Amino acid sequence: MAWTSWRQHFERNATRPVPLVVDATRGLTADQVRELALTLARFQLGETGEGRIAHEIRKFDDPAIDDDYCEALGMFVREEGRHARILGRCVRSLGGPRLSGTWTEDLFRHGRGLAGVRLKLIVLLSAEVIAVGFYGDIVDALPEGSLRDALEQIVNDEDAHMAFHNDFFSSQLRSPAARLAFRAAWWTVATSACTVVLWDHRKTLTVFGRSRRATARRLVALIRKVEGDVLSAATQDDAVSTREWKMAV
Ligand SMILES: [Fe+2]
Ligand SMILES: [Fe+2]
Repeated sequence: MAWTSWRQHFERNATRPVPLVVDATRGLTADQVRELALTLARFQLGETGEGRIAHEIRKFDDPAIDDDYCEALGMFVREEGRHARILGRCVRSLGGPRLSGTWTEDLFRHGRGLAGVRLKLIVLLSAEVIAVGFYGDIVDALPEGSLRDALEQIVNDEDAHMAFHNDFFSSQLRSPAARLAFRAAWWTVATSACTVVLWDHRKTLTVFGRSRRATARRLVALIRKVEGDVLSAATQDDAVSTREWKMAV
């Protein structure tokens, strides 16, 4: 796996200015403003506090990762911190509250604290799926403006984060047993996380006229896509290494 291009991707992204968010309430009803502000304030908490993984990866001894991956992961964590700043601006412009903690954020924090770098990254990957699916759904319902532009930028970043973590997992699944373990862990963690988020943000979906069932379908499609992308890349890598091995013999 060539991690240099991911390091360069995050380096390029880091040079972008944090977008300004003004007149976020324009075109929204009072209910939409209140619920969206609460939702984004909760997500803001979730976008912070992932720093430990950037240190732990340095001790993760695996032939599939290198210094470029570790650098890229550190910059990915900082990019999530940048999302928290963007969301902070969105929440302020919506006149929303500054939260210090929620039960869902606690749940994700405990999830990230589970043993093993791979399991922590599965929790982070499920957060990317939620961000792409849930933010994406809300963005589609927002009027044109700086709030929509800011959230759209986050969705695009999260989409790239999903691909970045997919590359990590496809580099890790070197045996059928590992692939089976990944599928079991991935579906368990991702569906649980999505269920919690759908419940926690149900009012926001309602005020934006989104059906919970449609958002759930969007999230399940993303979970399935991640599984497909990771497993097909992992089996391709296997085929390449078997071919290389045969040629070398
Ligand atoms: Fe993020
Ligand atoms: Fe992300």
